[in-house]
Amino acid sequence: MTYRVVRIPGDGVGPEVLAAGRSVLDAAATTFGFSIEWTDIVVGGGAIDAFGVPIREEDLELARTSDAVYLGAIGGPRWDDPSAPVRPEQALFALRGGLELFANLRPVTVHPALVHSSPVRADLLEGVDLLIVRELTSGLYFGRPSEERATADGRVAVDTLWYTDGEIRRVARLAFELARGRSKRLTSVDKANVLASSRLWRKVVDELRPDYPDVEVEHRLVDATAMLLVKRPASFDVLVTENLFGDILSDEASVLAGSLGMLPSASVGDRRTAHGLHGLYEPIHGSAPHMAGTDRANPIGAILSGAMLCRWSLGREDAAAAIESAVSRALDDGVRTADLMPRDEEGLERVGTAGMAEAIVARLGAPVLGSPVLGAPVLGDPIAGPAR
Ligand SMILES: NC(=O)c1ccc[n+]([C@@H]2O[C@H](COP(=O)([O-])OP(=O)(O)OC[C@H]3O[C@@H](n4cnc5c(N)ncnc54)[C@H](O)[C@@H]3O)[C@@H](O)[C@H]2O)c1
Repeated sequence: MTYRVVRIPGDGVGPEVLAAGRSVLDAAATTFGFSIEWTDIVVGGGAIDAFGVPIREEDLELARTSDAVYLGAIGGPRWDDPSAPVRPEQALFALRGGLELFANLRPVTVHPALVHSSPVRADLLEGVDLLIVRELTSGLYFGRPSEERATADGRVAVDTLWYTDGEIRRVARLAFELARGRSKRLTSVDKANVLASSRLWRKVVDELRPDYPDVEVEHRLVDATAMLLVKRPASFDVLVTENLFGDILSDEASVLAGSLGMLPSASVGDRRTAHGLHGLYEPIHGSAPHMAGTDRANPIGAILSGAMLCRWSLGREDAAAAIESAVSRALDDGVRTADLMPRDEEGLERVGTAGMAEAIVARLGAPVLGSPVLGAPVLGDPIAGPAR
């Protein structure tokens, strides 16, 4: 079997972490008897320089017709002017909108060997295994009007927080399905005491409850959730929330894992390919321009994103579990990139981006029971997927 994956190395450290991810995916494919046909496209700052646009329509079409999209990171100081008419992040909006990827999934787990890399107290991190499901294509980031106006009373700015019940239902249903495949606990996060959009959000989530009698649902206000994510992060399992709240909470939760370089993400919709859900997979970090070309970036977020790609879009649970297990084993064995190095380096092996990928490839094989597994160990049945 050959799968078709579009690769977007992007800018800064993107190409390095994605090369590392590709080497692990290719090795996993060999181990499990399949192959990946890679097509590279230029998107982001590189595309602005080469073509004058952040993504070309023909490249968007290649992404649309692939089995999955694998992205490094895009952007950098050269293109960071927020008032420039053409900006790298417009490519991300074009991909999310064009591929109808309405849900962003960020699993957050903390490997036991890394608890001291996190600024959060070690005892609070025990058992952290949560999944944030963020609505990605509506809400405040897309509502219109969104503009500044000159009025008789001075300048006024307006943004619009807009949700249809259909937009809420599709992402909430996905979250219910994911909760069902994990510990059957779902936290829906809103600001229903103040916002009309949140009150509709809460109603729609409650309307879905009869379809999922086995899932325990709690509604929480976003401000309390932000506090609890630091105070008792292990109490959460699946969280579902709207675009802006999800953006903020998922960055907050990423601190738990110790380094931005550790965490993967997936953006999915409900479009299916022959093998699973179509999706875009990327580490949560940005292009870290000051590290570009130095072989210092941690590629684990990209590699675990590759595992999610295997599970969700290729239907290859075997390869996904093997990659996650190999990452855990490398960490268990003391292999560390610079961002994961504590002051006391005794017994640890410092490696660069490529070295970490080699260490993970060397440990690929059948998953070992009892080994702590990073990434997205239980994400429901991606192939059966949500009933719609
Ligand atoms: N999805 C994306 O492509 C994406 C996401 C966020 C930011 N960006 C872009 O990236 C550029 C830099 O943004 P930023 O500095 O706010 O965020 P960043 O994630 O690039 O860097 C934040 C911090 O995390 C560290 N870091 C990031 N990735 C790492 C890795 N793999 N290993 C070790 N350390 C790592 C960096 O050194 C830096 O200290 C900006 O142009 C921004 O627009 C892109």
